[in-house]
Amino acid sequence: MPETGLNDGFAAMRQRGAAAKAEGIRERFAKEPQRFETMHVRLGDMLLDISKCALGRDDLDALVELARKAGVEEKRDAMFAGAPINATEGRAVLHVALRALPEDGFATGGKPVGAEVEDVLARMSAFASAIRSGEIRGSTGKVITDVVNIGIGGSDLGPVMTVLALAPYHDGPRAHFVSNVDGAHIHDTLKLLDPETSLFIVASKTFTTIETMTNAATARRFIAERLGEAAVNAHFAAVSTALDKVAAFGIDEARVFGFWDWVGGRYSVWSAIGLPVMLAIGPARFREFLAGAREMDRHFRHAPLAENLPVILGLVGWWHRVAQGYPARAILPYDQRLLRLPAYLQQLDMESNGKHVGLDGEPTRTVTGPLVWGEPGTNGQHAFYQLLHQGTDVIPCEFMVGANSHEPALKHHQDLLLANCLAQAEALMRGRTLEEARKQILDKGADAAEAERIAPHREFAGNRPSIMILYKLLDPATFGRLVALYEHRVFVEGALFGINSYDQWGVELGKELATSLLSVVTGETGTQGHDGSTAGLVEVIRHMRT
Ligand code: F6P
Repeated sequence: MPETGLNDGFAAMRQRGAAAKAEGIRERFAKEPQRFETMHVRLGDMLLDISKCALGRDDLDALVELARKAGVEEKRDAMFAGAPINATEGRAVLHVALRALPEDGFATGGKPVGAEVEDVLARMSAFASAIRSGEIRGSTGKVITDVVNIGIGGSDLGPVMTVLALAPYHDGPRAHFVSNVDGAHIHDTLKLLDPETSLFIVASKTFTTIETMTNAATARRFIAERLGEAAVNAHFAAVSTALDKVAAFGIDEARVFGFWDWVGGRYSVWSAIGLPVMLAIGPARFREFLAGAREMDRHFRHAPLAENLPVILGLVGWWHRVAQGYPARAILPYDQRLLRLPAYLQQLDMESNGKHVGLDGEPTRTVTGPLVWGEPGTNGQHAFYQLLHQGTDVIPCEFMVGANSHEPALKHHQDLLLANCLAQAEALMRGRTLEEARKQILDKGADAAEAERIAPHREFAGNRPSIMILYKLLDPATFGRLVALYEHRVFVEGALFGINSYDQWGVELGKELATSLLSVVTGETGTQGHDGSTAGLVEVIRHMRT
């Protein structure tokens, strides 16, 4: 990575960030009436507006320059070239190959990957089509009506989010998702199912994840106890990179769909992990989803930095986090079908960029990934927006909304949704001065003393930054573009942080301790070696369970 001057660059950016904050967004709009024109970028009918952020065109130019100095372009090219940029695991990061065309020629370690990708897609398509048409049925000859995906993290969040996002295109079997090891999750799902018409997909990259293996074993018993051991194969499929472990579970090879170690779990919805999506919407729509992501990939790879949506989104994210010091970002889709997008982005962003050690093994030179959270509007408005508008912390907001909905008969709803989304972004930015608050109270007939007393509570500081992502309609291609946009944004921010965005060692310690505590909870071993609080809690749990 070209290091020269980067530290100076970061310091200069912090100064710029503070100056831009002090200048204010509202004031900028007053001075620059054309601000929207110069501060938005487009890809087809998707638009990213950053004009309501506290940054000037000159700041943006400086950010683009910083990206150049930090080697964002070289790093991006290394990713697309299949280099092992996941350096702590010695792996390439090639999820872009999953939505490429074979002729795009992606390869890693000198080995082309396009043919293998196409082969798995073709097998998935044949299987999904046969289940959807009833050509492949359950063990008693009944058509499959319910598909249950059993997976967690990247083997759950992508498919569950996508099936919901593309609900208007859902014409296949019903989809269910079981992720939590809490028995309530699988219990409440199995309660809805007829074993004869159910298909379980065990989705696990490693095929060792305890939550998934536990839920898969319970589902297996559900089938074996009701339909007999011989029926198990007809009601199961698996998705994994660990094909040997899948074979040991007893699922027939023809029902196993592989992927590769160059696909990170949280980047895997485009792979065979997307099988529940394909079963729900069909292979053709799934290909449209891939094509949308491919369009974003090509744009990210080739568009100039200053016109590049993922680059701009990444730079503004970095600006908010590092240059302006905001600790969190709120994901606020004004689209009910993006209900699970905030949770998906939590994993994508926080598992990728929640790191404190750089690629050089040294502590990072800046803070890294922010806290990511959110909820669809308008529900969020009636819950946590109070804090967004008047709390003591400023939280940059990321709004997204479609100009159109899939329900033309309910156009009035979409009008209201759009009005709310635009209103919130405007209110965050403009706020309401003390003087305006006072006048409003007086206009309602209150006396001067009352207006004086109440006005401070009704003042909004404003100048709270937000970005807006606007699209025409949430169809499969648009949704593919949106998810790929966020994937590449995480890449850009990770490159600026100087970290490896593609490992997740931080999750390991908890997993190891859970394994060692299982025998303590069951009473097979004692609490020695564990801290006093853990030992005390185990004692109380044991008493509560007797
Ligand atoms: O939560 C940690 C993690 O390793 C994620 O990165 C991954 O998506 C998830 O567990 C599930 O892993 P697997 O697909 O191997 O079961």
